Amino acid sequence: MNKPVPVIAIDGPSASGKGTVAQRVATKLGFHYLDSGALYRIVALASQQAGIVWTDAEAVAQCAKNLRIRFDEEQVWLNDADVTNDIRSEAMGKGASQVAVHPAVRKVLTSLQQNMRRAPGLVADGRDMGTIIFPDAVLKIFLTASTEVRAQRRYQQLLAKQQTADYQAILQDLLERDARDKNRASAPLVMAEDGILLETDHLSIVEAVNQVLENY
Ligand code: DC
Repeated sequence: MNKPVPVIAIDGPSASGKGTVAQRVATKLGFHYLDSGALYRIVALASQQAGIVWTDAEAVAQCAKNLRIRFDEEQVWLNDADVTNDIRSEAMGKGASQVAVHPAVRKVLTSLQQNMRRAPGLVADGRDMGTIIFPDAVLKIFLTASTEVRAQRRYQQLLAKQQTADYQAILQDLLERDARDKNRASAPLVMAEDGILLETDHLSIVEAVNQVLENY
């Protein structure tokens, strides 16, 4: 029997650093990388462009069904447009969290995510990678940090990009997003029963990457 392609699931709240850690783990192992949050961000952007409100579950799901999404090395394409930067905005993060509450939208994105499982392996980051999308993942990491540390990291990132940043607004936004991601009925943000908790308040990115690799 063929062995299934291994998946490493890295789930956790916004701004926990899971994207950076997951990408580096993938590079180290020569695995593919899935940024599942990018898919929800794309759906938020495409809905907005089509004049659909994020609360309209049916219309958003229909919109999601018709999207042509392509991941390049560093870029994300939506119907032949490079949306790499557009989907990274705070507004699209908020929109992603709103479209992600709809079960119909999550359903459309399920097979898309599962199809990214290709040899020699996949590192997938998101909220429900280890619980719903890849329940047979060989390693499930729940990567988190305190809200204050996450807000501080995002604040510093924005300053480094020469963008204006308001720490209190960022903190408030993270609290709202955490609450929505954790309390939704469909695939809420929760640690898998067989998950490993990685608390990164006092860890550098390199240390976090090493801890993931040590557990693999
Ligand atoms: O990881 P991120 O910040 O790019 O994710 C944006 C939003 O997308 C997040 O607030 C909730 C949603 N999301 C989700 O519901 N399930 C995933 N697997 C990934 C993201």
